[in-house]
Amino acid sequence: MPTMGALHAGHAELIRRAKSEADYVVVSIFVNPTQFGPNEDLARYPRTLEADRIIATEAGADLIFTPTAQEMYPPGALAYVEVPQLDAVLCGPRRPGHFRGVCTVVLKLFHIVQPNVAVFGQKDAQQSIILIKMVRDLDLPVRMVIVPTVREPDGLAMSSRNRYLNEAERAVAPHIYKALRMVQEQAHAGEHDVAKLEANLRTELEAIPGARVDYANILDATMLASITSLDRPALAAVAVYLGQTRLIDNIMLNAEPS
Ligand code: PAJ
Repeated sequence: MPTMGALHAGHAELIRRAKSEADYVVVSIFVNPTQFGPNEDLARYPRTLEADRIIATEAGADLIFTPTAQEMYPPGALAYVEVPQLDAVLCGPRRPGHFRGVCTVVLKLFHIVQPNVAVFGQKDAQQSIILIKMVRDLDLPVRMVIVPTVREPDGLAMSSRNRYLNEAERAVAPHIYKALRMVQEQAHAGEHDVAKLEANLRTELEAIPGARVDYANILDATMLASITSLDRPALAAVAVYLGQTRLIDNIMLNAEPS
């Protein structure tokens, strides 16, 4: 189960799931430099290794793998992995090189650990979709398990970045999920026009005090292609800035009520 540390109850849920799927669970903790852009939060990404060890062990980790950046990326490395097209939407264009960094480190971790099963979160829906495609296209012998998003009681998706929110930002943050639930309900009630749903989603997000909408899109849930009508499983995905903090969340929209 790959992580960047700063473990929270969402990570713990994935580790417990890993333990239910496998006899032996390896949790990696590695703040992967290649997936951070030059203006992103690599240097200030929270590093809480001692607390992480306790959370991971209590959740069922048998081994915690904490390589250094030097070990993972010896000087002079040139090879990388990319899944084009799927990285051309949502977070991809906003974070150039991000998914290439994610794919490369996950493939390296797979080769080092050689797992039968790997567990990822729906919280990072685009990441999970891209990694599933990498596994399929490169014939990796790894079964991918995707765990539903773990949320705070008020609906906010758990994230290592939530700790950056000040009190006022934290207070309004649950409205992101409320907006996603609203469009899900509209879809279930029969609104299948994607342009209308996207507009409603954006309006709802823009009404959050202090929020700046980075994107709010509804796409085909497997290939992240544009769609005009909810005639197949779709993903509503958003990225919203509250102050300096960029939060992402998503929800599945199906034409059939689920
Ligand atoms: P990180 O953000 O630490 O997340 C590790 C895993 O936990 C990812 O699969 C992510 O989707 C999942 N996760 C995080 N918050 C979650 C939540 N609230 N509910 C469910 N799952 C959640 O994602 C990464 O690290 C990195 O990109 C990584 C895959 C480790 C590669 O460096």
